[in-house]
Amino acid sequence: MNAHNPPATGKPVADRKLNETTKMAQENTLLSPRFYTTDFDELDRMDVSSVREEWDELIASMRSDPNKGHFKRNEEWDDITIDDVPVELRTELVDFLVSSLTAEFSGCVLYKEMKRRGTNEDIKELFSYMSRDEARHAGFINDSLRDFGIGVNLGFLTKTKKYTYFKPKFIFYATYLSEKIGYARYITIFRHFERHPDKRFHPIFKWFEQWCNDEFSHGEAFSLLMRSNPKLLQGRNKLWIKFFLCAVYATMFVRDHARPEFHKAAGLDIEEYDMRVFEITNECTRQCFPLMLDLEHPAFLPTMRRINELAIAIDQANQKGGVFNRIKKVGLQLAVASKFLRLYTLPTKKNDIPAISRMVPAW
Ligand SMILES: [Fe+2]
Ligand SMILES: [Fe+2]
Repeated sequence: MNAHNPPATGKPVADRKLNETTKMAQENTLLSPRFYTTDFDELDRMDVSSVREEWDELIASMRSDPNKGHFKRNEEWDDITIDDVPVELRTELVDFLVSSLTAEFSGCVLYKEMKRRGTNEDIKELFSYMSRDEARHAGFINDSLRDFGIGVNLGFLTKTKKYTYFKPKFIFYATYLSEKIGYARYITIFRHFERHPDKRFHPIFKWFEQWCNDEFSHGEAFSLLMRSNPKLLQGRNKLWIKFFLCAVYATMFVRDHARPEFHKAAGLDIEEYDMRVFEITNECTRQCFPLMLDLEHPAFLPTMRRINELAIAIDQANQKGGVFNRIKKVGLQLAVASKFLRLYTLPTKKNDIPAISRMVPAW
């Protein structure tokens, strides 16, 4: 089968009535979480023998399934309906839930396909545990959307969302980063609400502590896969690593700034929160990436802010429509590209201690 094909599609889905959240999850904008497909045969050829001891230890812990009972509602859960959510917060809370759900489910779909297509026992076992975890994460978020009467149709999404093809090495960079940044986001939010329980406007945040440990181990697995193939972390590939770091950090910065009410209700300063997440992610990625973005560089934050302002202006031009705004949008897109280039060409910090092996979550 062609590696570019998306996972097995069932019979075509008729244009049945879709709810808004399923449509939101289906969107393919620059900022929305994507579904990926890759060259599964190449991936299947990965050989982890050079990191065997660490690999076996990680797989054993995933096999023991420490979060088996975690994604179930218990007495800690406070029932909530959409009427309990302040009106000004509703749109952004739903947007946060749908975007998180799509990202979790994207992992589930990709990992499941890797497991299904694989013949390499190491690869098959790893991806069966990771798809198991992501299915639980996605399901748990979808239950919260169902409480609001707007659950996403995940089966429909699998069949209809556009799949982006990435070579395995790009899957590794992108997925490793998204797992570690996912860990950093969940733990930062959890710790924040631990300090300010009165601000916790949804019970799902109580589940984030153990949840983030799953993301942490998924990241560990990708780190081992890359380290077992050190070429991925050397030479010209360093330029790709830098590109993915810039793209993933800038996307998160813009996406979070699009949810001012959400962060206001949580009592989180978006910029502080994002910088904290970048710091944690930087620390995590020291285990394998040969470089880190310099968060303290005097041009780092101003460039991020400018990219965000331009993204807002593009969004406004989109909403207004018309010839003038279409032309304006092209100019703004060029400006974003130039700012992104500025971000990309900022000096990075060299990582002197790569390959420090497995980490324990310490945040
Ligand atoms: Fe997840
Ligand atoms: Fe994950």
